[in-house]
Amino acid sequence: MTPIATTPLKVDFPAVQTRLTAEEEAVVIETLRSDPTWTQGEEQKAFEKEFTEYIGCADSVAVCSCTAALELAATLLRLGPGDEVIVPAHTFVSTVVPFARTGAKVVFADIDAEMRVVSAETLKPCITPKTKAIVVVHLYGLPADMDPILELAAQHGIKIVEDVAQSPGGVYKGRKTGSIGDYGCFSFQNQKNISTLGEGGMLTVKEALQGELARKLRWMGHWPFAGPRDRYWVPAMGNLVCGVEGVWPFNFCLSEVQCAVGRRLLQRLDAINEERRAQASFIRQGLASVPELSFQRVPEGHVHAYHLLSARYDGLAGKTRNDLVELLYQEYGIKCVVQYWPLYRSDLFKAFGYGHIHLPNTDRFFDNMLSFPFWSGIPKETLRYMVESIRGAVERLRRAGS
Ligand SMILES: Cc1ncc(COP(=O)(O)O)c(C=O)c1O
Repeated sequence: MTPIATTPLKVDFPAVQTRLTAEEEAVVIETLRSDPTWTQGEEQKAFEKEFTEYIGCADSVAVCSCTAALELAATLLRLGPGDEVIVPAHTFVSTVVPFARTGAKVVFADIDAEMRVVSAETLKPCITPKTKAIVVVHLYGLPADMDPILELAAQHGIKIVEDVAQSPGGVYKGRKTGSIGDYGCFSFQNQKNISTLGEGGMLTVKEALQGELARKLRWMGHWPFAGPRDRYWVPAMGNLVCGVEGVWPFNFCLSEVQCAVGRRLLQRLDAINEERRAQASFIRQGLASVPELSFQRVPEGHVHAYHLLSARYDGLAGKTRNDLVELLYQEYGIKCVVQYWPLYRSDLFKAFGYGHIHLPNTDRFFDNMLSFPFWSGIPKETLRYMVESIRGAVERLRRAGS
């Protein structure tokens, strides 16, 4: 049972990270009133075009979630039994399930101990002749070190899927995350840096043909008739095609209102991320002299999108991460969370036979990590309160342990 906090909650861990401006809210009403279709219309086309330009990829396909984008990527890769896909275990469950669903074997790679994302070194031992794809997650918003990963993949003819749910607008050596691998999967769910009203996603592709195939799969195979028709109702209102041989299509559509909001938010994504970087840097610098806390290492050339701010706590004399989370919650009213259960330790993955796996960096980080409350537009006084409280709490635990 959670002990009762002695201090009222002062800094919650929020569900919505970026609120809409009044102008963005007005776009919702305006689109509802003026849009002739409410789905699959001009807003979607424009959102996809603007997203493609922003990311610098060949094409973008708007979908209802990042999970849907990952399902499309897994489908387009034509994975199946006998194939292997390498994934991190320290990630949100959606990174893995779409690939597991194909019947391919999931191979869990460890994370780099300091960057806390996969690297060429952690991926390499997982490669076998059966490996068809690697899913790289730019977790917490930090772009993974992609060049060595791309080189490794090219040597073995392996495709790369980037899970960009947490790093929209993140940059790796001048390239936006989501433009580097063969597929990029974005999330606009409520907790992300930008959200299309609670749910939403985007699939980006390196080859234009993959975008066309994804569109044929997105809305149950609906596709325009090839030529002109004398009568619009003959042979029927809509055409149905099989976009990918042997694959039944889905309904993964994003509504026009969501696309309209997405377009507006895309315009301020860079500013949102800039502010988030400033917030993260304020907290990181404020805690730089606290040796028990270590944040993600951000190498030169990696521009962090700071979806979240997580740290490892290496407590002294038996003090644990749970002691720190409890103290911050109970006495300072700051709600931190513990995230990304190594998937092989979950009942879900145990039920599918992955329960025997242990990865040292993944386990160590998860067992000692905490994620601080983080959102767009944290007031300066809250940032100061967080820094002082976290420093104070760690010092108290240090004294109690010595
Ligand atoms: C790393 C990662 N991948 C995928 C997803 C799934 O995103 P969605 O909720 O849009 O399906 C999330 C969402 O939390 C995520 O954090």
